[in-house]
Amino acid sequence: MAEIVFKINGKEHKVDGKFSPDVTLVEYIRNVAHLRGTKFMCREGGCGACVVNIRTAQPPSNEIKTFAVNSCLVSILSCHEWDVTTIEGIGSERTGYHEIQRRLARFNGTQCGYCSPGFVMSMYSVYMSKNKNITTKEVENSFASNICRCTGYRPIAEAFKSFAMDADEALRDIVIDLEDLHSLKSCTRDCLKEYSDKKCSTKDKQNKNSDKLKLKDNNWCIIENLRNETFMVQSALYKWVKAYSLADVFKAIQSDDNYKLIAGNTGQGVNQLGDYPTTVIDIFSVYELKEHVLDVNLILGAGISLSELMEIFGHISASNDGFKYLQELYNHLDLVAHMPVRNIGTIGGNLMLKHINNDFQSDLFLLFETVGGLITIAEEVGKNTTMALPEFLKFDMNRKIIVNVILPPLSQCCSLKTYKIMPRAQNSHAIVNAGFLFKFHHNSQLLESATLVYGGISKIFIHASTTEAMLIGRDPFTNETLQLVLKSLQEEILPIENPPEPSAEYRKMLAISLYYKAILYLCPDDKINPTYRSGWKVFKRETSKGSQSFETDESLWPLNQPVSKLEALVQCAGEAEYSNDIPAMSEEVFAAFVTADVNPGSIISGFDTKQAFNISGVSGFYTAKDIPGNNTFTPSKIPIMDVDEEILCSKEVMYYGQPTGIIIADRELTAQKAAKLVKILYSYESTKKPLLTIDSVLESPEMNNRITNNQVIDPTDAGNDVKHVLSGELKLKGQYHHYMELQTAVAVPTEDGLDVYSSCQWLDLTSVAIAECLNLPVNRINVIVRRLGGGYGGKISRPSQIACSAALVAYLERKTCRFVVPLITNMKSVGKRLPLNSNFEVGVNDDGLIQYLKTTFHQDHGYSFNENISARTIAHFYSCYDPKRWQIESNSIITDTASNTFCRSPSSTEGIAMIENIMEYIAYNIGKDPIQVRLLNMEAENNPFPDMINQLKNDCEYDKRNEEVISFNEQNRWMKRALKLMPMTFEIYYFGNYNSVVSIYHADASVVICHGGIAMGQGLNTKVAQVCAYVLGVPLDKIRIKPSTSLISPNAMVTGASIGSECVAFATKKACEIILDRLNPIKAKGSYTWEELITKAYEDGVDLQATYMYSSKDELKPYNVYAVCALEVEVDMLTGNHDVRRVDILEDTGRSLSPMIDVGQIEGAFVMGLGYWTSENLVYDESTGELLTNRTWTYKPPGIKDIPADMRIYFRRNAGNEHGLLQSKATGEPAFCLATIILHAFREAVRSARLDAGYPDQWLDIGIPCTAENIFMAVEHKVEHFLLM
Ligand SMILES: Cc1cc2nc3c(=O)[nH]c(=O)nc-3n(C[C@H](O)[C@H](O)[C@H](O)COP(=O)(O)OP(=O)(O)OC[C@H]3O[C@@H](n4cnc5c(N)ncnc54)[C@H](O)[C@@H]3O)c2cc1C
Ligand code: FES
Ligand code: FES
Repeated sequence: MAEIVFKINGKEHKVDGKFSPDVTLVEYIRNVAHLRGTKFMCREGGCGACVVNIRTAQPPSNEIKTFAVNSCLVSILSCHEWDVTTIEGIGSERTGYHEIQRRLARFNGTQCGYCSPGFVMSMYSVYMSKNKNITTKEVENSFASNICRCTGYRPIAEAFKSFAMDADEALRDIVIDLEDLHSLKSCTRDCLKEYSDKKCSTKDKQNKNSDKLKLKDNNWCIIENLRNETFMVQSALYKWVKAYSLADVFKAIQSDDNYKLIAGNTGQGVNQLGDYPTTVIDIFSVYELKEHVLDVNLILGAGISLSELMEIFGHISASNDGFKYLQELYNHLDLVAHMPVRNIGTIGGNLMLKHINNDFQSDLFLLFETVGGLITIAEEVGKNTTMALPEFLKFDMNRKIIVNVILPPLSQCCSLKTYKIMPRAQNSHAIVNAGFLFKFHHNSQLLESATLVYGGISKIFIHASTTEAMLIGRDPFTNETLQLVLKSLQEEILPIENPPEPSAEYRKMLAISLYYKAILYLCPDDKINPTYRSGWKVFKRETSKGSQSFETDESLWPLNQPVSKLEALVQCAGEAEYSNDIPAMSEEVFAAFVTADVNPGSIISGFDTKQAFNISGVSGFYTAKDIPGNNTFTPSKIPIMDVDEEILCSKEVMYYGQPTGIIIADRELTAQKAAKLVKILYSYESTKKPLLTIDSVLESPEMNNRITNNQVIDPTDAGNDVKHVLSGELKLKGQYHHYMELQTAVAVPTEDGLDVYSSCQWLDLTSVAIAECLNLPVNRINVIVRRLGGGYGGKISRPSQIACSAALVAYLERKTCRFVVPLITNMKSVGKRLPLNSNFEVGVNDDGLIQYLKTTFHQDHGYSFNENISARTIAHFYSCYDPKRWQIESNSIITDTASNTFCRSPSSTEGIAMIENIMEYIAYNIGKDPIQVRLLNMEAENNPFPDMINQLKNDCEYDKRNEEVISFNEQNRWMKRALKLMPMTFEIYYFGNYNSVVSIYHADASVVICHGGIAMGQGLNTKVAQVCAYVLGVPLDKIRIKPSTSLISPNAMVTGASIGSECVAFATKKACEIILDRLNPIKAKGSYTWEELITKAYEDGVDLQATYMYSSKDELKPYNVYAVCALEVEVDMLTGNHDVRRVDILEDTGRSLSPMIDVGQIEGAFVMGLGYWTSENLVYDESTGELLTNRTWTYKPPGIKDIPADMRIYFRRNAGNEHGLLQSKATGEPAFCLATIILHAFREAVRSARLDAGYPDQWLDIGIPCTAENIFMAVEHKVEHFLLM
């Protein structure tokens, strides 16, 4: 029987019909090849966690190419003759680490580490594909595929740019320092020495290994005897035809009506696939589709990948005048998808996606249509039809294939400009894309023809045909023509509302604005006001940079030492284990939630599972009735869990997407498919419009049942100099946590109960909830957490629902149950950051000093009141100000959405945003400097801000840059800049119990720590080890930290609110001190090395294990973190896009326990905050409550090019902290809150544009998040504003 033959890390694999087309490469790598280093998250090409490297011969030349792919998008049956390299294949502890893995670790480019293997493999692929000759710009441009939620990308970018030929001196110096100091080249995992440690014993082994790697890199052995004959892999259900010629493709098409062509198969990232049809024809290697020919026209085979297409465009545009325009297309293609998708995604596939769904904003369709391209369709070999692209959209493609696209040369009389406007810098489909081609009469500025093509408007709108006709014979570079055209466009561009896409109103005006941009680009100098010219641009980030300034006291090392994370190297090598990485157990089952996708209020009466059980492999279905104990994952024995939330909805549906049942199968995907086939029966199906927002609740008759007044705080003072009474509001939306590791639990039956590997931040909640739901004593449940692939609060209370579900299955089935919640379910079923609405009235004097302030806020809890954060919101609302004249009222609201939950800096984000908005509002309305207004309202005593503000102003050259901003804005009508500065006080407070157990082994005096904290990227283990090493006086590499378990750490509090590291480090310090006390009598008898001391202690019967539990009775006391931030942004008023040009953050970290870890926390938190304020938008279907932005295609956290172009972090100098642990301060959350500054900067930039437009100077409430749409709409463009002179 024919087989698909490929290699993984040099080892040959063969697959046959036993593998269906829906088995992806990532599933195979993880579950069949048992290589768990490759991760997955979105399974749609949107996150990069699954990137692996491929080497293969590519037709037509059969040249061997190396490139990255998203292994989640590739069917295992597509891998014929591929040589796949996974993260394990490039380096490991056993074989020695690869330089890329080592550098990413050394540059602190990994926090939770879940994204790290994907980043390493993307870098490896691009580095190898360029024969190691890569430039800084190329590096920075190559990671559109990879999302990192933790680091803020700066250290990742720097680690990888250090490989560039043109890497700047500073980066080279870091590499040299690292190599010198740590013998980096020769270190294996155990030899990850810290800055002070120069010993390394494994050089020879490593050098030998590097040679081996070199050999592998250069003489890659790919499967020989390329077979070019079509063959078929067949099973009872599917036929997979691997075709090499068009003739064979048609033969296969004729053999089965129920067929599908597959080229790169990346289209499933756009439109998620249901089932494959019975015949799948793999056309990726069909020679006729791979060729390009240049004669008069350029003919491009439909099977050419987008990466190859860019190469072709690059070459031909440089050498052929008629095709110079291809450079513009090249630039545009650089914004299409990202490298791994472009490497295998083809022209034909892209155009066919547009054919299948005319709404798709295909950039290729747009580009080809703009330049007058044609498409050739074959219905059999040699029977071709060539047609225009719009015609193709209506053409019946059944049993046909796209063969090629034909692009004409363009004469020198033609001018071309294209645009693609996206919600973030890269890896996003267009909001609107546009192509403009003008053909002028010879030596004239009068138009012979004009082509105006748009995407993102509606299914049917392609050309602005009326306007095109109107332009003929006109000079487009006059105000008169421009206005005529814009008004014509206004009439003919009629976008259709298409949520969650931005509004029709925005897309219409944006489309008009893009025409204006193109004219600004093409217009001769003498016909344009120079201040308008820069309006043609779109932001194109070339490179970013950063600096970090902190003091370190060597006398304290390893405390206060800038070390890499302990687990950095294993994370970068894919060796770090997450819950879903524990090896497969025999007979394990996979679970998936069946969710109630109906309007809230519907009543469940039963389930019809017949269809689901028809799928082979489905073996069980459980509902609330099967739960032996309490049906709640939020048991009341646990703090802050005020309300029971059901594990499985038993009757009334509380929100769209609520889990109601669990289906199990022998394969993850089978369970997920089956879940969609379970029919939920309802005795009542509600059609009532759900209440999804605070406003809708406040306006509803149900308001009284849905509101709780938490607190009213009255002022203790009032001023009597009220000169201005001002009032306003602020409305904040939710935020999806976007952890890269999805909610996961693996429950394993044991002799006396269950071991549950859970991706949770809270051992105690999870173990208690499982015990209660199974009606078992808690001592029969052991919850184990090695690490999380990000949590950000989203894994505090929510994971216990998944853990209870997996435990229920494991308990009832007596089988291991593995439960990874797929992204769409994860997004719809799990609550988010609490939205907030607030309003205020403030009376101030002429200087802006508050005489009284009344503010009321409401927080949206979703459907349950759990996790009330209102008291903390008030505490953070005080920030750095004197609140004695303030009256504050806080309320909680119930809406018909998933129960909302903590999300990084919960309460502080909202509290600080509210008060900073008020400060800006006061300053704006009385015409004062916002910094002075802030200073005036602070407490006079012990106020660190005058000094800190001055320091930051000096460090960032604030005054000078402010002048530059003013001058820039005077010279630019459409690009506007703003520079803002903001102070912040963030109160750290303690709660809960955290234990630590320190054990010392007598045989070698090595130390092991088990604690109740959860490592989730924040560097907890590294800080704890540093404190332990410091207190015991041993080298850091003597210490290991073991997974956290409820067995060793019962009753441990949630790790969150920035305090986990401190509390666990405190407990560890105390435990170490207990052991030291026991060792003192021996020490007093002589001078011993550490090893000798421990041996003697062992012989003397000294207990070498100690435990200590931090509790609020201990001496850690609340304290303040102070910070000041300056941010400069540039905003493109013609699109709403922005570029953060520079950010400076001065933060008081006390005496940092671990400076590089703290830098990472600050940068990562700030960039996650930027996402919250800019691109991350939650859009719900108003009639059902369904979350529409529920995938990577629609929800956009920042990517590598969205970070500040220049990010400078300074730790406050000479800082300490008498209340915190060893003088340190927490860093995990505070910087998130600083990101609110971007709102003020946007407002200032938009204000400048509005003033230029002649609007009165008035306060602006830009919609939040400040998406491109909200910014653009705040400008209030009118077509009359779009002028040339
Ligand atoms: C994360 C991500 C981001 C993306 N961003 C963008 C973007 O910004 N702009 C944009 O334009 N596109 C974008 N895309 C789409 C991407 O360009 C396409 O997925 C890709 O080009 C499809 O090519 P493929 O070979 O993988 O198609 P496949 O997935 O193999 O096929 C797609 C469809 O085309 C059919 N087909 C394939 N080849 C032929 C042929 N020769 N003749 C007839 N039918 C054929 C298939 O049967 C299938 O129905 C993105 C995709 C992803 C996954
Ligand atoms: S899992 Fe493949 S890109 Fe997200
Ligand atoms: S380190 Fe990148 S997602 Fe956590």
